[in-house]
Amino acid sequence: MSRTKCLRFYLTFLLSAFISAADGYYAFILQECIYSYPDLSDLVFLESYSFNKTVQLQFNSTVGKFVAFTEKDMQHAKAWNEDPNIMQLMKVNMELCKHYIQLADEIILLSNSVKPKVKLSLVKWDQDNHSTILMCSAYDFYPEQIKVSWLRDGKPMTSDMTSTLEMADGDWYYQIHTHLEYTPKSGETISCMVEHASLIKPLIYDWDPSLPEPERNKIAIGAAGLVLGIIITTAGLFYYKKKSALMGMRAIPIDHSVLM
Ligand SMILES: *[C@@H]1O[C@H](CO)[C@@H](O)[C@H](O)[C@H]1NC(C)=O
Ligand SMILES: *[C@@H]1O[C@H](CO)[C@@H](O)[C@H](O)[C@H]1NC(C)=O
Ligand SMILES: *[C@@H]1O[C@H](CO)[C@@H](O)[C@H](O)[C@H]1NC(C)=O
Repeated sequence: MSRTKCLRFYLTFLLSAFISAADGYYAFILQECIYSYPDLSDLVFLESYSFNKTVQLQFNSTVGKFVAFTEKDMQHAKAWNEDPNIMQLMKVNMELCKHYIQLADEIILLSNSVKPKVKLSLVKWDQDNHSTILMCSAYDFYPEQIKVSWLRDGKPMTSDMTSTLEMADGDWYYQIHTHLEYTPKSGETISCMVEHASLIKPLIYDWDPSLPEPERNKIAIGAAGLVLGIIITTAGLFYYKKKSALMGMRAIPIDHSVLM
């Protein structure tokens, strides 16, 4: 089974700062941070000034200046482009974009991470040379990044271990199976340790040698019991085509409900 690429989730949040409202016309400034790569290499900052639902003036960081869309705004654009303070402010906004995107990613990650379910099983026990193969499986976790390691009496083991990460068909949760081949000694405790973003501290499962029979084929995929809200929210986030983080001019607090 092949390692499946991580599904990326996309984010949109929008807070617009209304600067006037009269007789059904309104003006607003919209700031947008648009990107599609996690390293933000293609990040574009846009600041749009709209009146009566039409963008009249826009700063685009790729262009590096304000562009006017109406005749009468040409002068504004020219004046702002020549004002070093305003140009400096646009540079600061680009940095703020990075900051907000990081913050938003953290919020999304925290609210959507799903704890792994862990199971330890015996794959093989060779009576002749006492070689034993154990398997530690973690199911139904999100996001993809996870660390599974083995401990002997609480200390990390360096013995041969192999891992296979995969994504179960039909959902976006991951599972990982890590094998350990070792020679048992009496009185020792072998444990599997799982570290994941959804966990405050690592999960440690001790192997109980008295458990019978290899259980390699018993795969319990228990996706039940998940809050429907999480499913809908996560699915929604996954299907956004572009990451677009929009933020308001003077609105500092991010409304988490908008994120969801
Ligand atoms: C606002 O837009 C509408 C339609 O787009 C247009 O008919 C109207 O004249 C505009 N008003 C102003 C003040 O520009
Ligand atoms: C920003 O400017 C670049 C270069 O002209 C352009 O390719 C891009 O589409 C603009 N972005 C938006 C959202 O208008
Ligand atoms: C134990 O024997 C099996 C075959 O019976 C072999 O595959 C395995 O590598 C051996 N393990 C060790 C640690 O010698």
